[in-house]
Amino acid sequence: MSPQLLFWVPAGLRLLVVLLGSALLGAFFGPVVGLAVGLLAMIVAVTVQLHYLYLLAGWLDSPATVRLPDGWGAWTDIFSRLYRLRRDDDRNRTELTEWLARFRQAMSLLPDGVVIMDDVLFMEWCNPAAERHLGLKDDRDKGMRVTNLIRNPDFMDYIILGRYDQPLTLSLRERKLIVHIIPFENRRQILVTHDATETERIEMMRRDFIANASHELRTPLTVINGFLEIAYNQPNLDPATRRSHLKLMNEQGQRMQNLVEDMLTLTRLESIDYPLRLERIDMARLLDQILQEAQALSAGRHTITLKVDASDINGSSDELRSAFGNLASNAVRYTPDGGQIVLRWQNGRGGPQFSVQDTGIGIRAEHLSRLTERFYRVDKSRSRETQGTGLGLAIVKHVLLRHDAVLAIESQPEQGSTFIVRFPDSAIADAVAA
Ligand SMILES: Nc1ncnc2c1ncn2[C@@H]1O[C@H](COP(=O)(O)OP(=O)(O)OP(=O)(O)O)[C@@H](O)[C@H]1O
Ligand SMILES: [Mg+2]
Repeated sequence: MSPQLLFWVPAGLRLLVVLLGSALLGAFFGPVVGLAVGLLAMIVAVTVQLHYLYLLAGWLDSPATVRLPDGWGAWTDIFSRLYRLRRDDDRNRTELTEWLARFRQAMSLLPDGVVIMDDVLFMEWCNPAAERHLGLKDDRDKGMRVTNLIRNPDFMDYIILGRYDQPLTLSLRERKLIVHIIPFENRRQILVTHDATETERIEMMRRDFIANASHELRTPLTVINGFLEIAYNQPNLDPATRRSHLKLMNEQGQRMQNLVEDMLTLTRLESIDYPLRLERIDMARLLDQILQEAQALSAGRHTITLKVDASDINGSSDELRSAFGNLASNAVRYTPDGGQIVLRWQNGRGGPQFSVQDTGIGIRAEHLSRLTERFYRVDKSRSRETQGTGLGLAIVKHVLLRHDAVLAIESQPEQGSTFIVRFPDSAIADAVAA
């Protein structure tokens, strides 16, 4: 049955009963009695309606605290429908509150910044990432115009030009930010910020690496091409000159090969598909090889000694041989003839350590933090003389990273340097279990 019928049928029936009752009473006891009873019945009915209206008004004022009675007649249905409405409303409100809380939590976990603004750029809300990126504070800056909060000429131009279909790259608070304004709803806009500092740094490193590698390869290639041109234009060169040119070309070719091999080694060490193969390393044997290589390179120009005073470790012997070999060869190449070089394998504070100490040319303090950068050389011309590619310490750094080891450098110009490789205690072979 429709709600209208549900209301009108019982109400009509009740009215009919009152009218018929009054008419019957009027027929038996006279019209005055019939009218009086009818009037009394009407007064009672109106009083009941007014009472329920009063209760309804009180409930509407504070629906949470006042309880509605079950009601009588049509009121029963009205009250039960009102209750249902209120219950649905409560449920919707709880769902909405939960959604809002979830939305805020998701927004606060976003790595990108989000600022919600009205159509004239007054801030309504922002997430923690936006606070970090733009230096805002949600509770402090709410209701302020973002152009007063983000004081940057490029950002101002972006707002003035209003070309929001393109993102803007902004340097702000020592970060590179990609900022984008997106209009939404009719009268709101979202400002999204993405921190591109790390991406930019990697991109710059990649550009630098390619530029440096090309430069390093170009120099020996220019030398080789120069000699080839001479050989082509002057076929009757005397054998001694020709031999010396061939020797120089051979050296430059070797240099290019070293460079390419070092670059490939670095790429391999950086690759995640190249896992570290741990094995127990016989340190006395490995260090003896390093000593012999260093002595061969020095060809008797230095006094090189080795002291082994710590146990074996687990690691990749090929990688550590290359890293330790580089440190030892640096000591030979950057120590003038007659100098002393000491290789040590001993127990340090946190675990075993390998050190190479020399009495060489030393390194000024300002260079120390940059030595492990690719192609970084303190003195380019001297390094070229010594056939260095400038990739050695970068390889050392990567090898050590893979072994949880760290490199420390102590050096005094004109006095000498000590390169120390510190391994964690867990690297000791017995500690890992035989
Ligand atoms: N023991 C040392 N004494 C003085 N300077 C050093 C020493 N070891 C390294 N350096 C400086 O650090 C720079 C970087 O060393 P690295 O081993 O990375 O490159 P390289 O020796 O020039 O070339 P490579 O090792 O690739 O052949 C060197 O060019 C040199 O200037
Ligand atoms: Mg080196």
